[in-house]
Amino acid sequence: MGTTLKGRRALVTGAGAGLGKAYAIALAQAGADVALCDVNDSVKAVRDEIRGLGVNCWAKVADVAKKKHVKAFVDGAADKLGGLDIVVANAGVVRVTNPAKDDFSKAVDDFEFMMDVNLRGVYLTGRAAIPYLVENGGDLINVTTDHIHTCGWPETHSHDDAQLCNWKDVQRSAVGGPGFDVYDASKWGIKGLTNAWARSLAPHKIRVNSFGMGATATPMYLGFLGGRPPAPGVMTPEGVAGVLVDLITEGPNGRTGDCVQLWAGHPTVLPPPMLDGILCAADLARA
Ligand SMILES: NC(=O)c1ccc[n+]([C@@H]2O[C@H](COP(=O)([O-])OP(=O)(O)OC[C@H]3O[C@@H](n4cnc5c(N)ncnc54)[C@H](O)[C@@H]3O)[C@@H](O)[C@H]2O)c1
Repeated sequence: MGTTLKGRRALVTGAGAGLGKAYAIALAQAGADVALCDVNDSVKAVRDEIRGLGVNCWAKVADVAKKKHVKAFVDGAADKLGGLDIVVANAGVVRVTNPAKDDFSKAVDDFEFMMDVNLRGVYLTGRAAIPYLVENGGDLINVTTDHIHTCGWPETHSHDDAQLCNWKDVQRSAVGGPGFDVYDASKWGIKGLTNAWARSLAPHKIRVNSFGMGATATPMYLGFLGGRPPAPGVMTPEGVAGVLVDLITEGPNGRTGDCVQLWAGHPTVLPPPMLDGILCAADLARA
C-alpha cells in the first residue's frame, strides 16, 4: 500500500471490469478512498476487493448515460467519502460501424448508444462532480482513446521508444480507424469538453486532462478481437492505471488541458505534455 494519494477521495465510472477496475485498484493502492459505479453489478466484487486494501470504498450500480443515476452516484460518492478530489470518467462502449454498408436504423442505434455512454456519460459525470471539485481543487480525467492521435504527427514527442509504430518518422494527421466513426466522434467530443473545462476550471485549481490509450487487454478489447491475437505490445490495465496515478501525482502545478496518449508497443509511461497541454499552459499564462 502506498501513501501518495492518502486522504484523497476518488470516483471512477465503469469500474466493474477492465481499465476502470484497474484505475480504482491503483488509486486505492496509492492510498485514496474510492467510489465506484458500473452498469454491471460486478462493481460490488471490486468494492469488496478494494476494501481488503484498507481504504474506504463505496460502490453503486449506475448507468452513466442516465442523468438521475449519475447525480445519485456522484452525490452519494461525495457524501460517503466526505468530498471529492479525483474524478475518472472512464465508462465507455464501442461498436464497429461501417458507413458504406450500415442501414440507417443501425447507424442511428449505434450513434445513440455510443454517444449516450461515451460523450453524454462523461458530460454528466463531469458536470455532477465539478461542484464538489470546486471546493478544494483536484483532478478531472476524461477517458478517450489513442484514435485522437494515432502514433504520429502532430504529437510533440518522438517515437524513438516505439517497438511498434506504423507512423514512426511519417507526418500524419490525427486519425481514427475506418470502423469507428461514431466511437471516434464521441471521444473527440470528450476532447472538446476537456479543453473547455481545463480553461474554465483552472482558476479553481482543477486540472482537467483527457487520457487515451491504445490496445489494452480488457474485456472490451479482447471481445473486439473475437479470438484473434492481441496487437504486439498490447498494454495491461495495471500498466495504464499506473500512468493515471502518475498523472494525478503531478499535483496542482501539473499539466492541464492535455491529451495524454499511450500506444501499444510504446513504454507504458506518462509522456511529456502534448500540443494541447502546451497550448493550454500558454493560454493560462497569458490570462
Ligand atoms: N481497452 C482498450 O484497448 C481501450 C482503448 C482505448 C480506449 N479505451 C476506453 O477505456 C474505457 C474503458 O474501456 P475498457 O477496455 O476497460 O472496457 P470494458 O468493456 O472492458 O470495461 C468497461 C466497463 O464499463 C462498464 N460500462 C459500460 N457502459 C456503462 C454505463 N453506461 N454506465 C456505467 N458503466 C458502464 C462496463 O460494464 C464495464 O465494466 C472506455 O472508455 C474505452 O473507450 C479502451
